[in-house]
Amino acid sequence: MILLEKIKNVRDQFNADLECINDLKSWEDIKSKYLGRKGIVSSLFLDIKELDPEDRKVIGKALNDLKNDLQTQLDSVYGKIHHRKKEEHYIDYTLPGLPFFKGTRHPLTQAIDEMLSIFARLGFDIAYGPEVETDWYNFSSLNLPPHHPARDMQDTFYVDDGIMLRTHTSPVQTRYMSTHTPPVRIVAPGRVYRNEAISTRSYCMFHQIEGLYVDKKVTFADLRGTIELFCKMYFGKNAQIKFRTSFFPFTEPSAEVDVSCFLCQGKGCRVCKHTGWLEIMGCGMVDPNVFQAVGYDPEKVTGFAFGLGVDRSVMLKLDIHDIRMLFDNDVEFLKQF
Ligand code: PHE
Repeated sequence: MILLEKIKNVRDQFNADLECINDLKSWEDIKSKYLGRKGIVSSLFLDIKELDPEDRKVIGKALNDLKNDLQTQLDSVYGKIHHRKKEEHYIDYTLPGLPFFKGTRHPLTQAIDEMLSIFARLGFDIAYGPEVETDWYNFSSLNLPPHHPARDMQDTFYVDDGIMLRTHTSPVQTRYMSTHTPPVRIVAPGRVYRNEAISTRSYCMFHQIEGLYVDKKVTFADLRGTIELFCKMYFGKNAQIKFRTSFFPFTEPSAEVDVSCFLCQGKGCRVCKHTGWLEIMGCGMVDPNVFQAVGYDPEKVTGFAFGLGVDRSVMLKLDIHDIRMLFDNDVEFLKQF
């Protein structure tokens, strides 16, 4: 029964070899070492020819079992290697990378940031207020008497009784003054809402930058100087400005500011409707009633305020003909800026 002993040794040796298989090449080597045509198992089969019939039966069966066992074990190891190979190659490093699109800031955000940075250089702080406002801040504190036409349901989106979407950024003036003592020097950017017919030139939501400067002895000359400097810094050195008298309940005197058309340099073109001028903001000296509403003494301080329309300026500067393009979030359109 030396052969049975040999078979057992072969099994032990095979089991040890099996542990060493780590890739397809070593698997093939082990397979041919044991089950190949000139492998160990075949050579054992040659040995049984010498045996007598009784022993040949027993050994033959043992050999067949050995052969089948080795085959099954090799098959199972092959399955594992193959599976691992697939996993290893799951990421195909040779594929070209996915294109990565870099986002840009919205043209309105770019304009607002640029405008704010100009005012920051002039010493203005940035302040914010809520888009849903109370009647007090949006109207009453700003010297808008209860029956002022600007409170008309047509212009204002009411959320509730006495609560509305702010119609301008001016409530940030009185909000800020209520919680700060003079001197005050702020700009307040933000969205405002008006219930207007939507067209290429007006939308129910747009952006303003409010400005407020309150101190001892602030004059109209300070207002004019500040606006002029801003316009030259934003629209260019050659920009001219013009103040037209106007009316706002919260400023006295009030004015509207026109800037010379930067497309035609004031000569007259389609953009400025052949006037040479573009209207960009309302402004004036803070009305004493506003100071009283926030507890400031109008005998001690004076101030100026302005409300700059951002969307119109951006449309003009970027030659955008429909204000709605700014709010459609069409990436193909926005990508251009
Ligand atoms: N709030 C005014 C508007 O929306 C603009 C303005 C602001 C005018 C500040 C004067 C002073 O039209």
